[in-house]
Amino acid sequence: MNLRINGTDYTVADGSGRLLVYTLRDELGLTGTKIGCAAGFCGSCTVMVEGVARRACLTPLAEVEGKAITTIEGLAGRAEDGSVLLHPVQQAFVDAQVPQCGWCMSGQIMTAAAYLSQNPTPTEEELVAAMAENYCRCGCYHRIRRAVVAAASQSAQVDSKGAV
Ligand code: FES
Ligand code: FES
Repeated sequence: MNLRINGTDYTVADGSGRLLVYTLRDELGLTGTKIGCAAGFCGSCTVMVEGVARRACLTPLAEVEGKAITTIEGLAGRAEDGSVLLHPVQQAFVDAQVPQCGWCMSGQIMTAAAYLSQNPTPTEEELVAAMAENYCRCGCYHRIRRAVVAAASQSAQVDSKGAV
């Protein structure tokens, strides 16, 4: 079957009932997507499907065949000179020095990026609610909050200029 991930088409072993997280990590080497609970609770495995946050540990391949999947490896863009241009959420996490062990981070970032793409001017309370189901066993919640608030401020500025 065929999957479109980060703008690239992949042919993967047929298995429509297989879960996306295992195909990403074990078959395609996209190990930026992490497995925490493997049961839909922690958010570590969050990716985007058609721009919407989705838990890859609960997602059968059949549900995402032909859809645009984005993993943490595909979130950054490219500047005009070809250099890597981090997504504003990634940059905010770097600036706030958020990670401790880092295991939850790609899920945190993908959740925040998906949410802000649909809600570019949230209140802080809305942001906290949007991130509430992503757990960090290192307890980096204060820095995560600081980073997503900074990223939201950035996305609001972009939105007010009419760009998306
Ligand atoms: S690993 Fe998917 S939600 Fe925890
Ligand atoms: S940084 Fe370790 S689980 Fe979040």
